[in-house]
Amino acid sequence: MRILVTGGAGFIGSNFIHYLFKHYSDLVVVNLDKLTYAGNLANLLDIEKKYKNSKYFFIHGDIANRELVAAILEQYQLEVIVNFAAESHVDRSIFNAYPFVQTNVVGTQNLLECAKKAKIQKFIHISTDEVYGSLGKEGKFSESTPLAPNSPYSASKAGADFLCRSYFKTYGFPVIITRCSNNYGPFQFPEKLIPLTFLRAMKDEPIPVYGQGENVRDWIFVEDHCYGIDLAMQRGKPGAIYNFGGNAEKKNIEVVKAILDFLGKPHSLITFVKDRPGHDFRYAMDFSYAQKELGFSPRISFEKGLEITLKWYQNNLDWISQIQSGEYLTFMETWYGK
Ligand code: NAD
Ligand code: DAU
Repeated sequence: MRILVTGGAGFIGSNFIHYLFKHYSDLVVVNLDKLTYAGNLANLLDIEKKYKNSKYFFIHGDIANRELVAAILEQYQLEVIVNFAAESHVDRSIFNAYPFVQTNVVGTQNLLECAKKAKIQKFIHISTDEVYGSLGKEGKFSESTPLAPNSPYSASKAGADFLCRSYFKTYGFPVIITRCSNNYGPFQFPEKLIPLTFLRAMKDEPIPVYGQGENVRDWIFVEDHCYGIDLAMQRGKPGAIYNFGGNAEKKNIEVVKAILDFLGKPHSLITFVKDRPGHDFRYAMDFSYAQKELGFSPRISFEKGLEITLKWYQNNLDWISQIQSGEYLTFMETWYGK
């Protein structure tokens, strides 16, 4: 297998590269990443050590760069593309939507076009449950739920999904879209709820919980997401959409309390803050289609996954402290106030 992974220095992309090298031997992986604030080559040190310039190649660049993408596809004779590259944080999209449209929409279209020209055999586009909008207390999202994105982030992801659909319908280009719920696990950037809570709790700092913490997310351990993507890559049908979920719906307040309890920190650190504008109330995934067609189901419970994740952060304090530099602190101060 010769695979282009875009955004492979980010959270899920780097976990996916680890997953690939754990499960396959006949493999060439090219990782194209712009190294934005969220991209971190420290996520792949072990892979670089073992496979750099033999089975693993890193290219620093932008998925929106037409010449670069075309040259990479030709030079490495790639067969499959898995597109993780994106601006991924909802709050940042509320603050400044421009980079979201540029990477998530324009970048994806460029990748699709270059991939079509290079006759790539399979293009897996990594999307999100957020394109479906928000649920009330009941119901789940299925692949046929109409798209109703509410944040600039989810709107840009929905735009990319529609471009993928159009390349399949118009050109017969073999695109598969996967839509997953909230991931957590090693290497997640500490702007997202779980690592943010861990980091602040370790420093005995207030934990910002939006509104009353009643919003619900369906949490999936990142390795289970990687497993689903692998199944889609091996068995998925061109033009299909597959939902993945973790079967673990939790209120945000429950997640935060579980982290504080694990760390032996007091609930008094919880600070209810102004709600996120346009905050989606609840996400829940019906992944029965992926179960039936691909044999997917999540294998790691929320309790087990959270324990693995928090232990990983405890054992990798260097990783997290190295991130807390200029850009991170500037965004934190701007978003949450000093
Ligand atoms: P992340 O922010 O941790 O990583 C994104 C990576 O993309 C970074 O390495 C960044 O440098 C790179 N990147 C950004 N712009 C780029 C560009 N123009 N060209 C090349 N590289 C670029 O994100 P993540 O949480 O790992 O999410 C990965 C993908 O999965 C995204 O497409 C996201 O929408 C999707 N997704 C995420 C979740 C989740 O819970 N995190 C759930 C479902 C789907
Ligand atoms: O559902 C999939 C999506 O999950 C992905 O597409 C996104 O890329 C990913 O960032 C994630 O989006 P969320 O907005 O759900 O994740 P986040 O970790 O930012 O927030 C999770 C919940 O916690 C959400 O309801 C908002 C709340 N929250 C978040 C932060 C950062 C807080 O209450 N306080 C916070 O400080």
